[in-house]
Amino acid sequence: MSYESLLLSVSEVNRLAEEIFGIAGHVTSLPGEIDINFKVTVSETEAYTLKISRPGADEEYLDFQNQLLRYAADRGGEMVPHIIPARDGRTLPFYTDPHNRKRFLRMLRWIPGRPWNDVNPKRESLLFSLGRQCGSLTAALQGFTHPGARRELQWDIAQGLWVRNHLSLFNREQRAIIGYYLQLFESLQPAYRELRTAVVHNDANDHNILVSEDPTRPEVRALIDFGDAVETQIINDLAVACAYAAMHRLDPLQACTPLVEGYHNEFALEERELPHLYTAIAMRLVISVTKSALNREQEPGNTYLQVSDGAAWELLVKWRAIHPDFAHFTFREACGLPPHPNEPAFREWAPGQKFPLERLFPTEKNKRLIPLDLSVSGTWAGHQEAFNDLDAFQCKIESLRKQHAGAIPAGGYLESRPLYTTGGYEKTGNNGPENRSIHLGVDFWLPAHTPVHALFDGEIMIAVNDAGDKEYGGLVVLKHNEGGVDFYSLYGHLSVATATAHRPGDRMKAGDRIGVLGNYPENGNWAPHLHFQLMMSLFDYSTDYPGVAYPGQMGVWESICPDPNLLFRDEVLRPPEKAPDDAMIAFRQRHLGKSLSLQYREPLHIVRGAGTYLLDRQGRKYVDMVNNVAHVGHEHPAVVRAGQLQMAVLNTNTRYLHRNILELAEELLQTLPPELSVLHFVNSGSEANELALRMAKAVTGQRDFVVSEAGYHGNTNLCVEISAYKFNGKGGSGAPEYTHVFPLPDPFRGKYRGRATGKSYAGEVQLLLDGIHAKGRGVVALIVEPILSCGGQIELPEGFLKAAYASARTAGGICISDEVQVGCGRVGKAFWGFQLHGVIPDIVTMGKPLGNGHPLGAVACSREVADAFANGMEYFNTFGGNPVSCAIGTGVLRTIRREKLQENALLTGNFIKEGLAGLAEKYPLIADVRGQGLFLGFELTDEQLRPMAGQAAYLVNRMKDYGILLSTDGPANNVIKIKPPMVFGQRHAELFLHYLDKVMAEDYMKPL
Ligand SMILES: Cc1ncc(COP(=O)(O)O)c(C=O)c1O
Repeated sequence: MSYESLLLSVSEVNRLAEEIFGIAGHVTSLPGEIDINFKVTVSETEAYTLKISRPGADEEYLDFQNQLLRYAADRGGEMVPHIIPARDGRTLPFYTDPHNRKRFLRMLRWIPGRPWNDVNPKRESLLFSLGRQCGSLTAALQGFTHPGARRELQWDIAQGLWVRNHLSLFNREQRAIIGYYLQLFESLQPAYRELRTAVVHNDANDHNILVSEDPTRPEVRALIDFGDAVETQIINDLAVACAYAAMHRLDPLQACTPLVEGYHNEFALEERELPHLYTAIAMRLVISVTKSALNREQEPGNTYLQVSDGAAWELLVKWRAIHPDFAHFTFREACGLPPHPNEPAFREWAPGQKFPLERLFPTEKNKRLIPLDLSVSGTWAGHQEAFNDLDAFQCKIESLRKQHAGAIPAGGYLESRPLYTTGGYEKTGNNGPENRSIHLGVDFWLPAHTPVHALFDGEIMIAVNDAGDKEYGGLVVLKHNEGGVDFYSLYGHLSVATATAHRPGDRMKAGDRIGVLGNYPENGNWAPHLHFQLMMSLFDYSTDYPGVAYPGQMGVWESICPDPNLLFRDEVLRPPEKAPDDAMIAFRQRHLGKSLSLQYREPLHIVRGAGTYLLDRQGRKYVDMVNNVAHVGHEHPAVVRAGQLQMAVLNTNTRYLHRNILELAEELLQTLPPELSVLHFVNSGSEANELALRMAKAVTGQRDFVVSEAGYHGNTNLCVEISAYKFNGKGGSGAPEYTHVFPLPDPFRGKYRGRATGKSYAGEVQLLLDGIHAKGRGVVALIVEPILSCGGQIELPEGFLKAAYASARTAGGICISDEVQVGCGRVGKAFWGFQLHGVIPDIVTMGKPLGNGHPLGAVACSREVADAFANGMEYFNTFGGNPVSCAIGTGVLRTIRREKLQENALLTGNFIKEGLAGLAEKYPLIADVRGQGLFLGFELTDEQLRPMAGQAAYLVNRMKDYGILLSTDGPANNVIKIKPPMVFGQRHAELFLHYLDKVMAEDYMKPL
């Protein structure tokens, strides 16, 4: 029977629908494995699925499906399709096809919604919702019985061992993978056969799941197609859903977790069912690839039959890399059980014991412990560099011990640490790059060669040289049985010779010497210490047992590796408290000004910066693409050191001679044209502008300012009065009488459009100047940012600044370039933004980047301006120009030069711009890409150039989920700003473009 001969023409289906069911509508064909399916659309709100059986279909089984749908509909409401009887009342009518074959028809009410396949992204909340839907259906089907329910079905996992007969369809590697799962499945059979059975849907694949249309919080609405329903082990139903939901995921186990949780929420799973889920998922995939291989031979024309073949294989390979026990523990956690089944017994046994530390370190008698905080937020070790300089680190440890009468620095259980930065500690998960950062053992910081002894009787399982940078070096793992519980203890960073002197299988007594602590580099290249860890499972590790875990798996690992302090019971070793961020948010709301905002729907709790990264307190690394303040990179070692060294020696005001201020002045003057030869140092961009405005007033003796629409210049009274972004924004009360605003010179969506609009916008400036003169007044200054930041990364049109400066000067005004955002090489082609426009301002104001996070600003001006300002009134600034700030500023400028960061801004900026231009072709929502160097922006609009602020906010929040920080701005909040630290390189840019592409493809970003 050829597949083609089963098919029906649309006109035939039309006729059948009308004649048999009295339903007339537009007929389209739908995919299906067994039945031949059609959609009959009657109106916008009324449609049906018509399922036409293959010849020779089992009538009892079709009746079973109908009964099942009724049963579920009676209990589960709208979550399954309702059956429409034929005009004559039959629920299972049939007709005879042109080949004289009996074909049954079933008409089902159409449930609106998108197939699972069409939904993007499929986030944890959607997976949870799928789990709930599947669980609810299983719950609704409880008690349903039918003679057709126990049937032979190749898709039934319980019957899956039939695949054994088809291994010859596969190559050697494929056979090895299938063989592994088959063996596992067979070994579990006795317990598996005892599990609960019931009639279940058994086919939550991509085509059978319907999702609500809502692109912000999509939810699973219904499951359709009951063609694979069968009475089987209930856990199989969840396994099928997991098998499909985990396809195409970088971390399939992580994708299954919310699904299991959702299922368990609606239909409580039994503890004994969970060890079978891993294998059941694999078996479903094995069945799928075997069916595909068979189908390829039997029905090459039916491509639907092979839809998930490639994805199933990919998942089978990834799944193989997950230890079945680890998956089991993860599923237990999802169901609210202690992840490791033996954890409760261990917790019961341990408090009855107390192990003196001398048992572990007999040569360290009567020593107390002192806490050593090496967490990501800890300040003791300080800069990341300090972790890597082992001599210096070791010196600090020794001096700490001396200060505390030889006490042993210790700690680290569940501490999130920033030090695991090499490749082996990183992976790309479903939500972007992840780092193993949660420390699972306790560290005791003792000198090399300190003897280490066994805590309990045990058998040696591992005694190796776990070589490599940031590995264990000499490693010994012992197996114990105490109080009836099996567990393991790990001794890491021993000397290689003492560790490898043992042999697996050897037995040890409590108190026996294991070996001595190693020194670097043989101990894995760490300052000498013992890493002591308890484990409830060894899995298959023979060397590098994880000593740190991914934050997302912390709950499971916490259970697998219980707190060693359960044995020592020393206050010092108490793990850090998991204080929720809510308390901080509440405190902020109560005691800090309400006008301080927090970024992101779920605010970040950032505790460390390093180069282009910001780290939260779990050690999650975010690529910072927002922070142009950390100009040469967060906590750049040269800048940090410059500040620290000077801070320890002197910090005072400018009334004494000091070379730091002169050195900074010299560095700055090298970057400026000779016309700008006088400097004043201040503490912020606002202060710089405030001083610049005062200077300009002193020169001109006037009151009126000309400023840009959407311009921002600072938070002081006068700065707000000249910042249209503020006085025309939320809470503002419009332009003061003496502030004159010209239209935003936006060549893309502004009053005049196109690159050749410089003259038109300059004409607007001229109009304002004429207006001021018409009132019999003069102008103080024209102040403009070379690329408008809050205005939405607006590049000024060609010729605008030149013409506007000329007009302002002719009118007697001063020209101020606000370089607080764009200065110090950020624009790539030039060191200062005004240099892009071929002009020389009278005053340049600087801030943000100059101190790399330290409050430092400056004002550069011409000799004429400076002299006019010095009218006898002293300019005193308590902090401005102090030796610490100046050391830092000099450090920043020298770093820019030494590390060629301006050049990097140009190269990387151009690379990003090209990438964005490519994405703009793919996604018309990206309407404009603009900016210079590493000061870029892209604007989201619809086809009519209407701003899409909702999409911009969505994008920024989604990119944050993937570990990339961006921000929005512009008068309509629809511009994404890009202004990362200048050490942002090609690989960061590639990562950004990769995830941007992903997010742009998501449903919410699609034009309506
Ligand atoms: C262009 C511009 N000028 C001045 C300022 C004010 O600088 P600060 O916040 O350091 O006072 C800002 C701050 O965002 C700015 O963007």
